[in-house]
Amino acid sequence: MATQSFDVVVVGAGPGGYVCAIRSAQMGLKTAIIEREYLGGVCLNVGCIPSKALITAGHFLHKMQHDAPTMGLTINGDVKVDMKQMQVWKKSVCDRMAGGVEALLKGNTVTIIRGEASFKSTTELAVKTSAGGTESITAKNFVIATGSRPIEIPGFAFDEKLVCSSTGGLAINENLQSAVVIGGGYIGLEIGSMLSNFGTKVTVVEASKGLLVGLADPECVQVVARKLKKNGVDVMLEAKAKSWKKSGQGVEVTVEVGGKEQVLKADKVLVTVGRRPNSDQANIKGVGIAIDDKGFVKVNAQRRTNVSNIFAIGDIACQPMLAHKASHEGVMVAEIIGGLKRAYEVKTVPSVIFVDPEIAAAGMTEDECKAAGYMDLKIGKFPFAANGRAVSLLETDGFIKIIADAKSHIVLGVHIVGPEASNLISEAALAIEMGARVEDIALTIHPHPTLGETMMEAAEATLGHAIHVIQKPLTAAKSAAPRAHA
Ligand code: FAD
Ligand code: NAI
Repeated sequence: MATQSFDVVVVGAGPGGYVCAIRSAQMGLKTAIIEREYLGGVCLNVGCIPSKALITAGHFLHKMQHDAPTMGLTINGDVKVDMKQMQVWKKSVCDRMAGGVEALLKGNTVTIIRGEASFKSTTELAVKTSAGGTESITAKNFVIATGSRPIEIPGFAFDEKLVCSSTGGLAINENLQSAVVIGGGYIGLEIGSMLSNFGTKVTVVEASKGLLVGLADPECVQVVARKLKKNGVDVMLEAKAKSWKKSGQGVEVTVEVGGKEQVLKADKVLVTVGRRPNSDQANIKGVGIAIDDKGFVKVNAQRRTNVSNIFAIGDIACQPMLAHKASHEGVMVAEIIGGLKRAYEVKTVPSVIFVDPEIAAAGMTEDECKAAGYMDLKIGKFPFAANGRAVSLLETDGFIKIIADAKSHIVLGVHIVGPEASNLISEAALAIEMGARVEDIALTIHPHPTLGETMMEAAEATLGHAIHVIQKPLTAAKSAAPRAHA
C-alpha cells in the first residue's frame, strides 16, 4: 500500500475543508485534501448553490407572472416552466463553481485525493480511492470537515423519488402538481416556496407551534407566513406526519393534527427536519475522538478536538450549520496550524433564509438580548414600503429592525425581512463585530436610491427620528438626537 505524508490533511472538500486546505497551502504547509464525492461539498453541489439557483428562477417567474403586467410589460402567451432545462442550467452553475474549487486547490499546490478516508490511528488515514485502490496517508495534523446529512424520520426512508431529502427536492425535473413538505425550517420553506413559485400546490407539515421557531425573529416570520398564505402555500402547525403509502404515481401522507388524522395526497413528499453530523463515519470515534450527545465532534475555541493534532470544522463541529461559519473556521484552523494565534471569537454569524421575502439576521433577538442581561433596549423599525428603491422594485413587504442597548446605543441585533435582506445584512454584521453604536449607522451616508437606506433609517428610527416615517411621540425625537461620532 502506497503511503504519502503531509503537514496537513483535510478530510472533506466542502466550504469548510477546501477553504482550510487553500489557506493551509498559503501558509507554506504541505497540504492534501481527501474528498469522496464532490469538490465543494454539500454547499456547492446539493445545498446552497443549487437551491439558490432554483429559488432565483422561481422568483423570476413569480415576478414575470405577477409584477410584469403592473409595470406595463406584456408577455405574449404563457411563461412555460421547463424543469428539465432548469436542471441542466442548475448543474452548469454547480459544475462551474466546483471546477473553480478544483482550480484554486491545484493553483495553491494542494494535493487532491479522490476517495473515502477512515482513521486508522490519530496519525494515519486509510483512503479507499475512487480508482479502486487503498492508500495510507500520514500527517502531522488532520482537519475533519466531513459535514452532515439529512435526518430521516421513522417510516419515511429516502428513495429520492417519492420520498425526497433536500437532495432529491433539488433534482426534481418535472412539473409537480402537489407536494407535501415535512418540516417548516430553512430547507422546507426555501424549497417549498420555490416549488410553489413553479406552480406546485405545497402543504408544509410542521411539528412546532410556528414556522422557523428559534431560527428567526418572530416578527420577520409573520411577514413570510402571510406571503406564503397569499401565494397559496398551506401550513399545518403542531402536525405530525405518521406514515405514507404509494397512491397511483404519487403518495398519500397521513398526518395527525389536533388528535385527528388527515390524509394528504401529493406527487411527492419532502422530508426536511434537520441535518445530523457525519460523526458516525470515518472511524472518528474509533480512534478516541470525543463526540457530544448531539453527534457533533467536541471542539474547543480553536476547533481542536480532544486529540491535539486533530481539528474539526463546519457542520461536523457545531451549530450553526452554515457554509460561511465553516469557511471562517477553515481559515482559522489553517492559521493555527501554521503558527498564528487565533481562536473562534466572533460576535455574530449572520444568517439568511432565502424565502419570499428573504429573512436575514445578525446578532441577538429581543429575547436573546434579555437572556444575556440587556434589560433596557432601544428598538427601531423601518418599513421597505417607505423606501423608494423598494417601491420601484415592487418589493415593499417587510422591514429592518435594529435592537440596541438603551444606555450605550451599541447595536445588539439586526433583523431584516424584505428584498435583498441577504445582501443588506453584511453591514449589520460589520456593525456588530465592530461594536458600533446606532449613531454610526445613522450618520453614515447611504447612497440613494438604494435598499441600504432602510438600514440608515432603521438606525434613525431607533433614535426616534427617522425622516420617512412619522414617529410618535414627537418629543422623543429631540431627546434622542444623534450624538456626533466619538
Ligand atoms: P459539507 O459541505 O457537507 O462537505 C463535507 C464533504 O466531506 C462532502 O463533500 C463529503 O462528500 C465529504 N466527506 C464526508 N466524509 C468523507 C470521508 N470519510 N472521506 C472523504 N470525504 C468525505 N448554508 C449557508 O450558509 N447558506 C445557504 O444558503 C445554505 N443552503 C443550503 C441548502 C441546502 C439544501 C442544504 C442541504 C444546506 C444548505 N446550507 C446553507 C448549509 C451548508 O451547505 C453547510 O453548512 C455546509 O455545506 C457545511 O460545510 P462543511 O464543509 O462542513 O461540509
Ligand atoms: P431546520 O432545523 O432548519 O428545520 C427543521 C424543521 O423541521 C423545524 O422547524 C422542526 O420543528 C421541524 N421538524 C422536526 N421534526 C419534525 C417532524 N417529525 N415533523 C414535522 N416537523 C418536524 O432543518 P432543515 O430545514 O432540514 O435545514 C438543516 C440546516 O441546514 C439548517 O438548520 C441550516 O443550518 C442549514 N441550511 C441553511 C440554509 C441557509 O443558510 N439559507 C438553507 C438550508 C439549510
